[in-house]
Amino acid sequence: MNRPIIISWDPKFTVGNPALDEEHKTLLALINNVYVSAQSMNVDDVESRLSILIAFSLTHFHHEESYMRKMLFPEIADHKRLHDEFLIKVQNFHTSFQKGKNAGTTSEMSTFLASWWRDHILHEDQKYAVG
Ligand SMILES: [Fe+2]
Ligand SMILES: [Fe+2]
Repeated sequence: MNRPIIISWDPKFTVGNPALDEEHKTLLALINNVYVSAQSMNVDDVESRLSILIAFSLTHFHHEESYMRKMLFPEIADHKRLHDEFLIKVQNFHTSFQKGKNAGTTSEMSTFLASWWRDHILHEDQKYAVG
């Protein structure tokens, strides 16, 4: 089943920091890149695009956690745990693709990445935006 994953940027996603908003847009584009490769079952592309997504996520999470420290955001430890859990999950998908387990993984991964992006930014990142 090929379910469209493309999410359009909407002002409701803003966290009130233009640099972090830009990084969220980039994350969305990288997730869509992974999805496109996964749909065409191009395993090499999926692997390399997942690596790019992991690397950029690390950079973004560092920026975001620094910003939260600067803003004295009280729930930083909980938020950081969510970031770490995301990285572990995406690493596991990457390992699964390396082992050639791509049939069931593709749809699970695509669903996870799209819903994570939307839910994390709308419900978790918004907490430091208003805090
Ligand atoms: Fe976050
Ligand atoms: Fe974020």
